Amino acid sequence: MPNRTVTFTGIKFDNPFLLSSAPPTESENNILRAFEAGWGGVVVKTIGLHPVVNVIGARTKFFRTTPDDNAVSMKKRTGAALHGSWNWELISDKGLDWWVPRIRRMKEAFPTRVVIASIMAGSGSDKELRAWQTLTQAVQDAGADGVECNFSCPHMDRKDMGSNIGKDEGLCSVVTEAVKEVAKVPVWTKLTPATQDIVVEAAACFRGGADAIVSSNTFPSLPIIDPETLEFEINVDGLVSSGGLGGPAILPMSLANMARMCQAFPEKSFSGIGGVSDFNQALSYFLLGCGTVQVCTAAMLDQAIGPNVIKRLLSGLDTFLDKHAADGWNSIEDFRGLRRDRVVAQSQIRRPAGDQYQGGYEPVEGYAVPESSLSS
Ligand SMILES: Cc1cc2nc3c(=O)[nH]c(=O)nc-3n(C[C@H](O)[C@H](O)[C@H](O)COP(=O)(O)O)c2cc1C
Repeated sequence: MPNRTVTFTGIKFDNPFLLSSAPPTESENNILRAFEAGWGGVVVKTIGLHPVVNVIGARTKFFRTTPDDNAVSMKKRTGAALHGSWNWELISDKGLDWWVPRIRRMKEAFPTRVVIASIMAGSGSDKELRAWQTLTQAVQDAGADGVECNFSCPHMDRKDMGSNIGKDEGLCSVVTEAVKEVAKVPVWTKLTPATQDIVVEAAACFRGGADAIVSSNTFPSLPIIDPETLEFEINVDGLVSSGGLGGPAILPMSLANMARMCQAFPEKSFSGIGGVSDFNQALSYFLLGCGTVQVCTAAMLDQAIGPNVIKRLLSGLDTFLDKHAADGWNSIEDFRGLRRDRVVAQSQIRRPAGDQYQGGYEPVEGYAVPESSLSS
């Protein structure tokens, strides 16, 4: 039997696959169903001190694309394939007091499964920093195995919250340090991809004492404008605000950020998120150096908590380890980070020698055919 277990930031996981902080983990019932389905852990939907109120109507919709014209739209069309999720959902609409007894109960029901509590407060005053500490103490006393600081929610108006923390290395460091001051459990920080150089904010979190970096949250984005109605495909009274793109569309961008952080801090711990729906995508994150992988969009579209997604992730991992048994690979640790050093500066990539150069014409998809092949 292949070894699925991992130890990540000192926490032992039955398997390295978690549901990320999002609708799949927004209720006790969902989380219990997720554990029954086999997920190694969950990151609870982000908890604040107080409940919040979401916009009216849909909080998430899905972009799909059609094979004939590659048109991306939220409209349902036959034969269209998933492109990504778009959401403008806030943190949990239940406050800390609602969550505390539920975290306790889910840990009692599934003691070997991992519960990470995602938390969020502001950062503009000492009072706000104390709110992070109150949240940390409450969730760890309830039995959470770790906390994940949300420095990444892309739709916050407040300058001292969500991704506005993740864009500011000073705030990343100060908030992480405040949380670490009271934390008895590992502290993960989830960073926004909406920054010029994510390595800077990752370094700041590590300076503050973070035990792991989590990436990516969704990318800032807008819905598309319907050419018939001239309205955004999702709107309230004709208005829209910037929301977050997730799912398959963000996989390559999330991998790029992860590669840079894993190279900058090869000894540190990283949890990869973005566009994972089966083991093949999770593998890219492991090969770059991640120790765990999280899933949102694919799980939302699979009975809300992804029973088939986790089945595919586990069987994919087993098959992969089986295939590489002769290489001596028995667990994630045996191949983690194996491709970390393959991402290099452009100038280090080999150029064609002499007559292989086609003068800008290439015999590959998307380019004009070489003149030599026209004349023959
Ligand atoms: C509707 C929705 C709500 C989300 N809410 C949160 C949240 O409260 N906290 C958080 O850290 N991330 C939140 N996320 C981001 C996801 O956890 C995840 O980072 C992102 O969707 C990328 O993963 P994916 O490509 O598997 O969807 C949310 C995503 C969606 C689609």
